[in-house]
Amino acid sequence: MKEIKIFAPATIANISCGFDVLGCCLDTIGDEMIIRKSPEKGIKITKIVGMDLPYEANNNVAGVAALALLDKLASNKELTNYQGGFEIEIYKNIKPGSGIGSSAASAAGAVFAINELLDKPFSKLELVEFARKGEELACGSPIADNVAPAIFGGFTLVRSTAPLEILQLPTLKDLYATIIHPQIEIKTADSRAVLPDKIPLKDGVKQWANVGAFVHALHTEDYELLSNSLKDYIVEPHRSKLIPEFDKIKKTALKEGALGCGISGSGPSIFTFSKGIQIAEIISDKLSLIFKNTHIESHHYVSKINTQGIKIISIQ
Ligand code: HSE
Repeated sequence: MKEIKIFAPATIANISCGFDVLGCCLDTIGDEMIIRKSPEKGIKITKIVGMDLPYEANNNVAGVAALALLDKLASNKELTNYQGGFEIEIYKNIKPGSGIGSSAASAAGAVFAINELLDKPFSKLELVEFARKGEELACGSPIADNVAPAIFGGFTLVRSTAPLEILQLPTLKDLYATIIHPQIEIKTADSRAVLPDKIPLKDGVKQWANVGAFVHALHTEDYELLSNSLKDYIVEPHRSKLIPEFDKIKKTALKEGALGCGISGSGPSIFTFSKGIQIAEIISDKLSLIFKNTHIESHHYVSKINTQGIKIISIQ
């Protein structure tokens, strides 16, 4: 194998009740990347199409994640005989600062692809560990709730970050996500800065009860429980102020039959979950009308939950 082309999916982090721990992988939104072996050692970003992003490997999320993987290889010579480096081409569709895991897709995509080209010396968990370095560059914290579902697929729970422990959760087969992405940028670091350091105990109690209920709902295929658990008492009240029309969007989505509606990652994208594609599409149409009446352009997507994660498009 000399070259691999992959689909690096968008992801929803937090999922209302699970700030920094819950995430899920999407199917219809994502970037493409081509990674090829090169005789030159190290990581070289040779092409970025679609967005204006840094080419220096140590200043690019895909580059930083890939360099973390190479460092680990260098410290354990038994993992591979490969002596060369890698070139990375990134075809971005997911806008940075969108809240649907733009940096995570690039970081996770790079390490996944290199691992494939080397005949998989690393586990998925180790790939998440490398990809987190990219997240650290992008937003100042090595968050794992976007890179984990991109690499594992489906729903994931970050049970612990030190040591890293990721739980792969089941997915409900008729569950669809609708994403509305108002075309404004909210940097994750700014969106984290509005959060309080301390939270009232009574809010914590409600929140962790809902995280447990959400996980139980996935295991028991209980749509009603899933719907009841999609509440955020801690983060949404602060971050929703940064997102135009959030309250109207949420009210409309729930009225149209959404199981829940919340901020995707650190925003400004808003997600809803629905049972069945029909409701998901109706919600998508209704929500896009809300932004049509403002000066803000919005993009909208409907997606099934992607249980595979990153997908290989071709290998040569
Ligand atoms: N859990 C992170 C946050 C995800 O909400 O800040 C960033 O996309």
